[in-house]
Amino acid sequence: MSSLETKLGRAIFRNPVLGASGCTGHGYEMAEYTDLSRYGAVSLKTVTYHARPGNPPERVNEVPGGIISSIGLQNPGPDVFLEEIMPKALSALDRDQIVVSVAGDTVEEYVELCQRTVERYGDRIAAVELNAACPNVNHGTGYFSRDAHAARELVAAAKGAVEVPVFYKFNTNFENYLEVATAVSETGVDAIYTSNTPMGMKIDLRKKRPVLGNVVGPVCGPAIRPIGMLRIWNLYQAVSVPLVASGGARTWEDVIEYMLAGAAAVGVGSAQFPHPDIVPQIVSGLEAYVEREKLDSLSVLVGAAHR
Ligand SMILES: Cc1cc2nc3c(=O)[nH]c(=O)nc-3n(C[C@H](O)[C@H](O)[C@H](O)COP(=O)(O)O)c2cc1C
Repeated sequence: MSSLETKLGRAIFRNPVLGASGCTGHGYEMAEYTDLSRYGAVSLKTVTYHARPGNPPERVNEVPGGIISSIGLQNPGPDVFLEEIMPKALSALDRDQIVVSVAGDTVEEYVELCQRTVERYGDRIAAVELNAACPNVNHGTGYFSRDAHAARELVAAAKGAVEVPVFYKFNTNFENYLEVATAVSETGVDAIYTSNTPMGMKIDLRKKRPVLGNVVGPVCGPAIRPIGMLRIWNLYQAVSVPLVASGGARTWEDVIEYMLAGAAAVGVGSAQFPHPDIVPQIVSGLEAYVEREKLDSLSVLVGAAHR
């Protein structure tokens, strides 16, 4: 066993540094800029039940310590994803590296997406990730992230429908995020993945208008890392399910800090935009660290700051 090997429930990854969904394409787009074999895994860009054109431009802009974005889950829908995109992802990434991120408006839509993916590619992917931060037709954006009963129902239904490991990715911005995570942890979910991105906005001084076409959008990058750290710290005390942190990780030290707070793995998102080869650099830093510290396994650090 390698000292960086990482277990998220039934899923086993070569290291704890994961390419976060929406920031790593479908892997293959990154191949000429980075060494994909150094990624623990890549969560592919979320595919939704219906194709989505995304939000009006402008969709991404810089803010101090990060970026603000509002993409609106643009994607071509499941037919194109399964027929055209998945074969390319499979050609760039190994089986243990592919996490398929899905989202729907209803539990039934999520479940059907999981089933279609697993029927076709179940023996060639590591896990499915339920992106719970997306809109819901009846109950509004973030329903499956802020309603503990709905979140539990969603994850239980997906777990019952497919054999592969299931991750639940949710937005921790709602006051009851610990209650939601606790409810989800009772389903036997393999990992709880946190998107710790608070909403923000930016005004264009010249136009005297909001910069984003959608007016508001989540803020990500180093500016939000302390927020993510606190939420991982609190989640680690509340649930015993493996946690994945995302929010501002861009160095190996950031990954170690998140692990000490309680994360078993860390998603690296927008740090890849200016530095597409950042994940291999982070992994090399972790390898040097375990050597220096004479650790048999990096996983001994998970939650160590609580002890
Ligand atoms: C441009 C952009 C697109 C994103 N698209 C998705 C997505 O499709 N699905 C998802 O679960 N998260 C998406 N995210 C959230 C990231 O996966 C990640 O959780 C978030 O950016 C925080 O990590 P970071 O601070 O390292 O960027 C997106 C983020 C950005 C910046």
